[in-house]
Amino acid sequence: MFKRYKNIGLASAFAAFVAAPLSATADDSVEVLHWWTSGGEAAALNVLKDNLESDGVSWNDMPVAGGGGEQAMTVLRARVTAGNAPTAVQMLGFDILDWAREGKLADLNDLARAENWDAVVPDALQGFAKHDGKWISAPVNVHSTNWVWANKAIFDELNLSTPRTWDQLVSALDKIQAAGYTAVAHGGQPWQEATIFDAVVMSTGGPAFYQRALIDLDDSALRSRTMRTVFERMAILRGYVDDNFSGRDWNLATAMVINKQAGVQFMGDWAKGEFINADKVPNRDFLCFRFPGTTQQVTFNADQFAMFAVSGDRQGAQAKLASAILDPSFQSAFNVVKGSVPARTDVSDGAFDACGKKGMAQLAAANNSGNLFGSFAHGHAAPAAVKNAGYDVITAHFNGEYDAAAAAEEFADAVADAK
Ligand code: BGC
Repeated sequence: MFKRYKNIGLASAFAAFVAAPLSATADDSVEVLHWWTSGGEAAALNVLKDNLESDGVSWNDMPVAGGGGEQAMTVLRARVTAGNAPTAVQMLGFDILDWAREGKLADLNDLARAENWDAVVPDALQGFAKHDGKWISAPVNVHSTNWVWANKAIFDELNLSTPRTWDQLVSALDKIQAAGYTAVAHGGQPWQEATIFDAVVMSTGGPAFYQRALIDLDDSALRSRTMRTVFERMAILRGYVDDNFSGRDWNLATAMVINKQAGVQFMGDWAKGEFINADKVPNRDFLCFRFPGTTQQVTFNADQFAMFAVSGDRQGAQAKLASAILDPSFQSAFNVVKGSVPARTDVSDGAFDACGKKGMAQLAAANNSGNLFGSFAHGHAAPAAVKNAGYDVITAHFNGEYDAAAAAEEFADAVADAK
């Protein structure tokens, strides 16, 4: 559908940025580290690769499997320690700022100025794309984590309507389970449990509580009764997961919904990329709706390509990559495939499917009404040390190591130690 579309804006913006043409010794390649290894993710990445290659930049791919990017971040640390940073790295929120503070990232201000990024990238993203007044990374999308992906045939067969409240959700899951399906498709990996946790905290406590607990890391919010209810609800959801969930990759869980083995998956909208890649159509084959109790809220994460400080001969290709990422037609083409929405406010929703249009409208509405919050699970609510400490407790509880009261206490302790 979006094969080798020509990126018109790229050449002119790049010319404005780099006064001299690339010299004979310039390195016209980029090395890009990322964790986009599922079918839908790879299809989206190909849009960028093709685009650059048609502009004379060769792409050295460095995929590191592992949703959420934990493994990719470990590989990156080793590369930078060895003095061999990639050109660009897929990265989330606080990780970008950590690398900027270490002085490892490039200064993209000249390009950003030439292309007016300040005017078109939403403030919520700029907070993670700039450090000390300098643009350090190129935002490629906005995902959000509080989605439910449902198999439409199962919903039709059981006469289920879209659940809007926690009680309606539990009742729908009961019916799906009673009909012999796995109610909740889930992959037992810490980041996937944390993704559900984002939505359960928002649904249970509401936006002010989410802010206090997961962004402000307020100890009294973390030790409140509400937090215990959150863990009680996580245990209830655990009861709808099949026996083989442990270690399962997220896209295999999505496939269970696609193949009518499971009713729903609670997952960010990268899951939509898998449905699309399997030729499934929203509202015909699958449904997308916000986690019950979070219909006005969006917990977001934005993939960015953090640009590392590279030698002069590599800077030209790096600037081409950054410029290609911010190009408006690329932002549309890429995000249609990826399941996310554009990282610019001036991109039309014309090419997007029903879920994409809904996602764009809800993001804008949440932003205007103060209902847009960074995802804890995906590095936009708290620094990596806090996030990882939180993962351990969420997962240990999900696997039965703690009851809800103990988990809430352990979680508050872990956050206090890590922050
Ligand atoms: C990223 C998505 C990615 C997902 C699963 C998230 O952290 O933001 O782009 O598709 O992880 O790999």
